Amino acid sequence: MRIGVLTGGGDCPGLNAVIRAIVRKGVPEYNYQFVGFRDGWRGPLEGVTMPLDIPAVRGILPRGGTILGSSRTNPFKVDGGVDQIRRTLMNLGVEALIAIGGEDTLGVAAKLHEKGVQVVGVPKTIDNDLSGTDYTFGFDTAVGIATEAIDRLHTTAESHHRALIVEVMGRHAGWIALHSGMAGGANVILIPEVPFDIDQVCDWVNSRFRTNYSPIVVVAEGATPKDGTMGVLTGEKDAFGHVRLGGIGESIAREIEERTGKEARTTVLGHVQRGGTPSSRDRWLATRFGLHAIDAVHDAAWGSMVALRGADIIRVPLAEATEKLKTVDPALYAEAAQFFG
Ligand code: F6P
Repeated sequence: MRIGVLTGGGDCPGLNAVIRAIVRKGVPEYNYQFVGFRDGWRGPLEGVTMPLDIPAVRGILPRGGTILGSSRTNPFKVDGGVDQIRRTLMNLGVEALIAIGGEDTLGVAAKLHEKGVQVVGVPKTIDNDLSGTDYTFGFDTAVGIATEAIDRLHTTAESHHRALIVEVMGRHAGWIALHSGMAGGANVILIPEVPFDIDQVCDWVNSRFRTNYSPIVVVAEGATPKDGTMGVLTGEKDAFGHVRLGGIGESIAREIEERTGKEARTTVLGHVQRGGTPSSRDRWLATRFGLHAIDAVHDAAWGSMVALRGADIIRVPLAEATEKLKTVDPALYAEAAQFFG
């Protein structure tokens, strides 16, 4: 059997580990052949492929990014997109697809499955906001990078008696902010799930200065102020309708300076959180996802996604996993709030 593999959406450390595991088990154990589709759904849409055999996956385990390339192409936004994909698969003799992606890429996989395409999903995102799985790979690496940055920012903030605002990724969910902020001893953590009150933030900042410490405010890029309390920047939208974010950290720094009279600076971690080599935990999780994804293909478990539940890898319906995002539980946020101010 010939199987197509694609990686879609924002890249994520560990993608190559999944690809490697799929091929390293699929070839010797099941005698499968693979086709690498380039740049997410653009590959099957436009018939853009690359060879994907054992030599092609040698040495890629510790490499960040994805050898297949990625994009945010949405075939449901292209006229006749689904038929085009069907044609490509038929022309190449590809009988099944493994789609490695987040809510958007796997949302497309779920819809294609409903239309009869044989597809299995693997959850990926540094944001950790996919339902159905305890964790996604990439998250651990991103949290590690953000925590190291916060540790470093503490010492320079102290030297200059400044407030430092660290903007981390997290469009709809504040998992990276919560984990790195807690691990890094942040003074305040702001997440998209809980609109913040800038007056309250300034009170926490002032209270930290009063005890002779410099405050570190960790803010997820998708965090928003309570209605009408301060202005924010907005950006353009991608093919899945998501606004390009970035700028909340700078807006908060400006407000803190105006309201407290203290100097405030912003560090936007941005794509540094997504680039480079995956942590050992992410390599481990990604490798296990790859091994179980190829087993799911062998079992014809179409429309399923491999997922981590406790220490086990299980299968959940793609439709269920992509129905709604996994956001931060208010009880977890309350634990972190114990350290604010
Ligand atoms: O979904 C992962 C993610 O890294 C988000 O945290 C972020 O909002 C988005 O991708 C940025 O996407 P891009 O770099 O592709 O514009």
